[in-house]
Amino acid sequence: MKMNYFVRLAAAASGTLFLISAAVAGTITGSAHDFTTQSWSGGRICVACHAPHKTDTTIADAPLWNHATSTATYTLYSSPTLNAAISQPGGNSKLCLSCHDGTVAVNSFGGVTGSTNVSAANNLGSNLKSSHPIGFTYDAALVTADGSLHPTGNSATIGSGGQIRTDTISSLLLFNGKMECSSCHDVHNTFTAQTTALLKMDPSGSKDCLTCHKK
Ligand code: HEC
Ligand code: HEC
Ligand code: HEC
Ligand code: HEC
Repeated sequence: MKMNYFVRLAAAASGTLFLISAAVAGTITGSAHDFTTQSWSGGRICVACHAPHKTDTTIADAPLWNHATSTATYTLYSSPTLNAAISQPGGNSKLCLSCHDGTVAVNSFGGVTGSTNVSAANNLGSNLKSSHPIGFTYDAALVTADGSLHPTGNSATIGSGGQIRTDTISSLLLFNGKMECSSCHDVHNTFTAQTTALLKMDPSGSKDCLTCHKK
């Protein structure tokens, strides 16, 4: 924490550094998910995704979910070499897709229907065949079947600067034992390794991929 304070002090001395620091510092404030500048947010950040009461309990284990969910049926990832058993996204990924499949407005939450959708660049659509597979169990059986995956008890490191965590793949990257959008992304920008794409792990040298894939 002390380190962080000095980084901020140093950053304040230089405009450029400050911008870099603000983006990597590891808070949702100033990140792509900071909605405070949107006219519909009332200056709030969390409300588009969470509320303290009357939240959506239809998605398995959703954390006090306030955003309208998508009813899209997704085209799932498939390939002749895939061993994972993939089904329609539930859980964590369904939360992301409530904005990122482009069918529900970002400002549709708390029972109100909005009209501002994610930008084209961040719209994944409902064809998930073009995205890294998500929504499946990553366990010892899959490691054996695949032959070149690291066991889920192996170490992983997420974050950067003063906010780094090292633990097992299963504890840091899996959700109920499953591979989800948040296996690679940190929606809150708390433990991210770089400024772009809210990535939890360092993409240099493809460390983000090699944490799970033994290639
Ligand atoms: C863009 C959507 C979005 C916004 C905005 C958002 N969250 Fe979340 N939050 C999620 C998702 C998705 C999860 C599920 C766990 C995950 O993916 O990391 C989550 C999980 C959580 C959790 C439980 C897991 C954890 O990380 O501790 C807490 C607490 C939380 N959010 C608090 C907040 C607070 C406080 C804010 C506002 C400052 C906020 N969130 C803003 C999407 C969001
Ligand atoms: C409430 C709607 C909403 C939810 C839910 C949501 N996002 Fe986003 N996300 C956005 C918006 C809005 C942007 C940026 C502006 C745009 O594209 O319009 C964005 C941007 C991003 C970006 C690009 C970041 C960058 O720096 O360019 C990533 C990556 C991302 N989101 C991942 C996720 C993941 C992963 C989840 C779930 C864990 C999630 N989002 C949930 C609305 C959402
Ligand atoms: C295996 C890791 C991984 C998974 C799983 C993953 N992403 Fe990503 N995502 C990335 C990487 C890496 C990038 C950066 C791509 C680039 O810079 O070219 C990215 C980029 C993005 C972007 C920015 C737009 C773009 O295409 O560059 C969004 C939005 C996004 N991801 C959302 C999601 C959502 C929603 C899910 C779940 C449905 C998801 N991601 C699952 C690794 C992943
Ligand atoms: C959190 C762990 C994890 C991370 C991080 C991850 N992957 Fe994966 N990936 C998996 C698992 C598990 C599978 C399913 C393997 C299987 O079914 O045999 C998979 C599947 C794939 C597939 C499809 C394989 C097939 O047979 O069709 C490709 C390609 C792939 N990953 C590439 C990447 C790349 C590139 C990155 C980095 C951007 C990455 N992965 C990051 C765990 C991960």
